[in-house]
Amino acid sequence: MACPVPILAAGSVLRVFEPDSPQARAIFNLGVICAVILGVIYVVVGGLIVFALMRFRWREGAPDPRQVAGNKRIEIVWTAIPFVIVVALFVLTARTMTIADPPPPPQPDLVVVGHQWWWEFRYPKTGVITANEIHIPLGKPMALRLDAADVLHEFWVPELTRKMTAVPGHPNHIWLEADEPGTYLGICSEFCGTQHAWMHFLVVAEPQEDFDAWTRAQLQPAAAPEGEAAKGLALFQQLSCVSCHAIKGTRANARVAPDLTHLASRQMLGAGIVDNTPENLHRWIADPQKVKPGVLMPDFNLTDEQVNELVAYFETLK
Ligand code: CUA
Repeated sequence: MACPVPILAAGSVLRVFEPDSPQARAIFNLGVICAVILGVIYVVVGGLIVFALMRFRWREGAPDPRQVAGNKRIEIVWTAIPFVIVVALFVLTARTMTIADPPPPPQPDLVVVGHQWWWEFRYPKTGVITANEIHIPLGKPMALRLDAADVLHEFWVPELTRKMTAVPGHPNHIWLEADEPGTYLGICSEFCGTQHAWMHFLVVAEPQEDFDAWTRAQLQPAAAPEGEAAKGLALFQQLSCVSCHAIKGTRANARVAPDLTHLASRQMLGAGIVDNTPENLHRWIADPQKVKPGVLMPDFNLTDEQVNELVAYFETLK
């Protein structure tokens, strides 16, 4: 069933009706069953109301209808039917929860931290730290722990898993899995401030070997740059970039803003607001407020030359 809602991030689309994991499929199937049951109730009840309106409407000169006070048999029937329906929905929901929401293991595979307005992702078992883009191995359920740095956010990858709120100081749990290789779009689905709408992230599902290769690459520190890029690194360390960002292999290790160690390997900038191209990166550094108004990164009033040096450096961070 194709129902693409065009919310763009690196060419991705939010597909709510195309589940691609056991968890999302269980939720989708439950949704379909509920919609069918509720649809039948709607048609039956609505039909009876329309029937009663037509059949028993007041007519000129007609006598009063037969007066009835209570009917035990009918009352039992219309209590029993909803009871059976509610029990059936309860059983179906409980069954879905065992598939979509089994208890979490003691150690998560991935820690997700929602920030205004980007996502921090940490793999505690390997030490990978990234932002706005996660990779997962195909067919393996990943246990996620959700946290938030400031306000409530909500993690949602409709094709892969259910929604879960990220609450500051109260970790929540969710499972994330994909059957098919591909890039899935995730969004923040809890209003969290000015740029809530641009708090997208990508989930790249790939075979285990590719995931392992990605993990190894992400664990590498940034290589020492040369030429213009070296000037960029010097500038990066001189300016106040280091008060917020981290780049492994340099003295920058702040955790307020996204880790930039492998910035150039990511598909988008500003949590999905633009694709990650050198031109967009240039626009972003030159004036982040113009690209994403309200973003917590200030405009540093850099000269064009300084921006070029920084872009040259960031483009080496593969
Ligand atoms: Cu974060 Cu909405």
